[in-house]
Amino acid sequence: MRPIAFALIFGTVGASRVSFVPATTLSVLGMGFDHQVTPTPFSRFPSESEGTIRSDVYDLSLNSAGVAIEFATDAPEIYLNYTLASALQCYSMWHMPSTSVSGVDLYAFNDFSSERIMGEWLFVGHFGPPSTNFSGVIGNLGSVMKKYRVHLPLYNTVDEMEIGVDDGFTLEKSETLDLSQRVLWYGTSIAQGAVASRPGTAFTNVIRNSIGMDVVNLGFSGNCLMELDVAEWLVEVEGVSAVVVDCLPNMDASLVTSSTVSLVNKLRDAFGDQVPIVLAEGTTYGSAWISDDVKNDQEAKRSALTAEFNTLIESGMKNLFYVKGEDLGQGDLSTSPTVEGTHLTDIGHQYVADYYSSFLPTILQKYDKEN
Ligand SMILES: *[C@@H]1O[C@H](CO)[C@@H](O)[C@H](O)[C@H]1NC(C)=O
Ligand SMILES: *[C@@H]1O[C@H](CO)[C@@H](O)[C@H](O)[C@H]1NC(C)=O
Repeated sequence: MRPIAFALIFGTVGASRVSFVPATTLSVLGMGFDHQVTPTPFSRFPSESEGTIRSDVYDLSLNSAGVAIEFATDAPEIYLNYTLASALQCYSMWHMPSTSVSGVDLYAFNDFSSERIMGEWLFVGHFGPPSTNFSGVIGNLGSVMKKYRVHLPLYNTVDEMEIGVDDGFTLEKSETLDLSQRVLWYGTSIAQGAVASRPGTAFTNVIRNSIGMDVVNLGFSGNCLMELDVAEWLVEVEGVSAVVVDCLPNMDASLVTSSTVSLVNKLRDAFGDQVPIVLAEGTTYGSAWISDDVKNDQEAKRSALTAEFNTLIESGMKNLFYVKGEDLGQGDLSTSPTVEGTHLTDIGHQYVADYYSSFLPTILQKYDKEN
């Protein structure tokens, strides 16, 4: 027995045969700022923003929502090690699983010819907690060179991440996207990704994987209030090709009325006349079809946003677009599929992604033509 057990252990001591590289040396998608200026490698605002914005927004900016790493490898096994912020032991939430709050999923680009599926990013596997220091491997991937994306935790903060392959295989940067162009998404918890079942199903990730343009997720759970302090940092993002302002679920009608025009003017001044700005109503609450209170509250905010949109259009603003909540759901009542009335199930995220994946390219094309 003893020699056999020894041989087995010896044979599975993989660590010495696996080479890891920091994820920051591969292609990092979904970041509005370089990791050199952010407090953790995958947080969404620069360290300098601390103290210039409300601490709730700053703290949420540390979460790696919407960040993804792209690379190419021929290795049949992909190893991933990552460390979550030690102070944050909340791997899951009551309405959102650890697989998406703190987990990571792996997709690959299927570019082999097939009538059924061609040219799509498809799910491969999931890496995840619970543990502050996670290490895992996904295997049986074949040894043909392929492109991969890992989608980072939506509601946790990643302090370090390394990706590894067995020695003898290639692991390199893959640059499918032109990172000088990006869609900036300023939104609420729903945009941050609540309550998708894993990161890759959150709509900003789905949209990136389908339109072929990077999407920067600046969703701040409970804290999208069209603040000019926050906008000071939005306008620092380079290469912005379109901006979506998707704050309604966090606001009331009077705040919408008092904030929209100044926010849009600030974005317009910074990004120039040609960059499309989208004012979005957000998804429809799950009980809006039956509860008058929920419905009236929602309609009041939507009417307030429509009025501000009309004011801006009448003032001559170009390249301003409007997205109605009823286009983001499905079914006669246009109610969005939610877990607890507000936050979207994976199908809800898919409906939002489907709508924007057909809408955004049309407004971006218009932008190209006019440049
Ligand atoms: C990754 O995790 C494995 C297993 O825990 C460990 O042996 C290895 O040293 C780690 N590598 C890095 C670069 O952290
Ligand atoms: C997790 O990893 C970090 C960074 O590599 C290290 O400082 C820390 O001690 C580790 N914590 C545990 C519980 O292993």
